[in-house]
Amino acid sequence: MLTAQTFRFLAGPQGRATLARLATLDLGDAQTLPLLARLRRDLPADLAAAALTLARLRVRAAAKFSRAEAMFFTADALEQASGETVSAWRARRFAEGGYVRLADLACGIGGDALALAALPGVRVAGLDCDPLRLALARANLAAYGRAADWVRADLTDPPPLSGVRAAFFDPARRADGRRLFSVRDYVPPLDVIRRWRFDALAVKLAPGVALEELVSYTRAGAGAEFVSVGGELKEAVLWSGELGFAGRCASRADAGETLWPLGAPPPPLSAPRAYLVEPDPAIIRAGLLGELAAHLGVALYRLDESIAYLTGDAPPRSGWARTWTVLAWMPFQLKRLRAALRERGIGRVTVKKRGSPLSPEDAIRLLKLDGDGEEAVVVLTQVAGRHSALICTRDETPPTGN
Ligand SMILES: C[S@@+](CC[C@H](N)C(=O)[O-])C[C@H]1O[C@@H](n2cnc3c(N)ncnc32)[C@H](O)[C@@H]1O
Repeated sequence: MLTAQTFRFLAGPQGRATLARLATLDLGDAQTLPLLARLRRDLPADLAAAALTLARLRVRAAAKFSRAEAMFFTADALEQASGETVSAWRARRFAEGGYVRLADLACGIGGDALALAALPGVRVAGLDCDPLRLALARANLAAYGRAADWVRADLTDPPPLSGVRAAFFDPARRADGRRLFSVRDYVPPLDVIRRWRFDALAVKLAPGVALEELVSYTRAGAGAEFVSVGGELKEAVLWSGELGFAGRCASRADAGETLWPLGAPPPPLSAPRAYLVEPDPAIIRAGLLGELAAHLGVALYRLDESIAYLTGDAPPRSGWARTWTVLAWMPFQLKRLRAALRERGIGRVTVKKRGSPLSPEDAIRLLKLDGDGEEAVVVLTQVAGRHSALICTRDETPPTGN
């Protein structure tokens, strides 16, 4: 376990040398005993175990941090930390505000402070109640040649800061290994911000946050941003004060793009046409289907009032949506679907679903295809309120695009 003492060792010369050696070895689970035996030749058991754990966490952390090999984590803190892509994306908005001092509230191991401290001319204060995390954050910023002021503080009280006009707040959304769904259960709970006095404040929320829980904040001028990376929904951010906006927007942090609400009406309804279009999940959560159609400049239609699949006669070439060619569609009936697949020489399918009671695994099992022949995508969804199946070719989304 990483404690203040084991961290001091790992951050010192002997610890760094041990970690550098471990980074060249196979750290797979099967190697645990031989690796520990080897480490224990020079180190007491607790330091050996802490070194191996950190070496493994660094490997895992490479998915989030470009300098993971020089950083310090605990398993929980790494799990909770923001990765570079989203933290840099949020930092860009703070840069637009022109703030010279920023606070990173509940800074953890510094995933967000890293990006904020990279802004030119900006001084960051990182606050957390956990002294170990503050120490890790300090070391992690140093790994990037960056620095911040670190303050131990309990954020259930107003932050002990003066002269800081803008802040980012990242409350914990897990406790004791459990995910916390309500913003009232976050640690600290979201409503602590009501007592804070910043000119601009952004709060990271779970991507699945219930919009009803945000009404009192959005009525007061806060806007909700839904952020995806690589087509995967990562988080929601509540922006208030000078960085607030009306409604909900969608961003693809990896592409550096945002779609803003324009009050566009949702696309009209239609039966499936030549293409099936699945909007980026950030668009779906932000409720911007009409804005997406306007942005793409192609006529798009909804298959159903309650489902976010779209259809159209032309494929939208865009990173905001995935596209499949529709070969056939029918009201869902297992026998009929199986016959339609066989007729087309399709023996293997991937099943996607939205609004279907049947799981993809059950659908594949019940279809009893022979595994030979062509491959296709079967989409189980609602078309005008009727459970339906679409047979589509494989994903035809271009690999890049705006
Ligand atoms: C989601 S993590 C922050 C992750 C961080 N943004 C990062 O990228 O590393 C939440 C943090 O809230 C801190 N925290 C929880 N309750 C707190 C409180 N009452 N006061 C201050 N910090 C608190 C935890 O110690 C934890 O580091």
